[in-house]
Amino acid sequence: MVETRIIDGKAFAEKLRKRVASEVTAFHAATGVTPGLAVVLVGEDPASSVYVRNKGKQTVEAGMASIEHKLPASTTQAELLALIATLNTEKEVHGILVQLPLPGHIDAQAVLSTIDPAKDVDGFHVVNAGRLAVGIDALVPCTPLGCVMLLKDALGSLAGLEAVVVGRSNIVGKPLAQLLLREDCTVTIAHSRTRDLPEVCRRADILIGAVGRPEMIRGDWIKPGATVIDVGINRITGPNGKHRLVGDVAFEEAQGIAGAITPVPGGVGPMTIACLLANTLTAAKRQVG
Ligand code: GUN
Repeated sequence: MVETRIIDGKAFAEKLRKRVASEVTAFHAATGVTPGLAVVLVGEDPASSVYVRNKGKQTVEAGMASIEHKLPASTTQAELLALIATLNTEKEVHGILVQLPLPGHIDAQAVLSTIDPAKDVDGFHVVNAGRLAVGIDALVPCTPLGCVMLLKDALGSLAGLEAVVVGRSNIVGKPLAQLLLREDCTVTIAHSRTRDLPEVCRRADILIGAVGRPEMIRGDWIKPGATVIDVGINRITGPNGKHRLVGDVAFEEAQGIAGAITPVPGGVGPMTIACLLANTLTAAKRQVG
């Protein structure tokens, strides 16, 4: 039995946000420019509305300008593209984020690919995905960036470690695998069609759950002492009818096996917005500099 350390993403994110805020102050003093983040929300998905509200609040707390565009669910793709074209040209907008998911009648990929890559603070544009893949300056997706920051804080150098990423999404799994490769990990991307997934997971010094399936990764899939990063945020209904949030990893089972693990909530989640603020400052510096 090992003592499993809980990785406090909330505290780390708070520190990062403070650091960004002081850099924003210095940047403003040097250039007179306030970094601006435009967030576009289409429709009224409750989870998305909560995210957008938190993003706006934390953007302002970091000394940046938050520009919110809330559009009805009936917005056409052409109207959304027209808004993005305008935001691309606005000098006071340094970052553009289109909240996902978009309503079904809108082609998300078509929308994301019209964002100016220099303002693409989500790092979802194919130009930024390509830059990340070839290892040149990119705006990197926020959640994977947050995961790697937590890992480096917990472990120091990641070089030579076996990393298994369970999940192959464009938002988390694929970019995270690229980032881990950049840190000299040996990377495996596993997914729903992987043969003997538990055995593949048992190889991992670093095990990432990014599939969006509640508690799918069991305690006996974890190599003793491994560092576990849980990206999943799943709302489940317990036997008593109450809702609770769980990750992709069976957290209680991991206790005494994992060397360290991120909790849900309070692990990776808070890192996403903190990294978004960091990306917005980076984008502003590149546009002004
Ligand atoms: N929806 C859930 N997470 C995210 C995110 O990181 N960025 C955007 N744009 N939409 C999301």
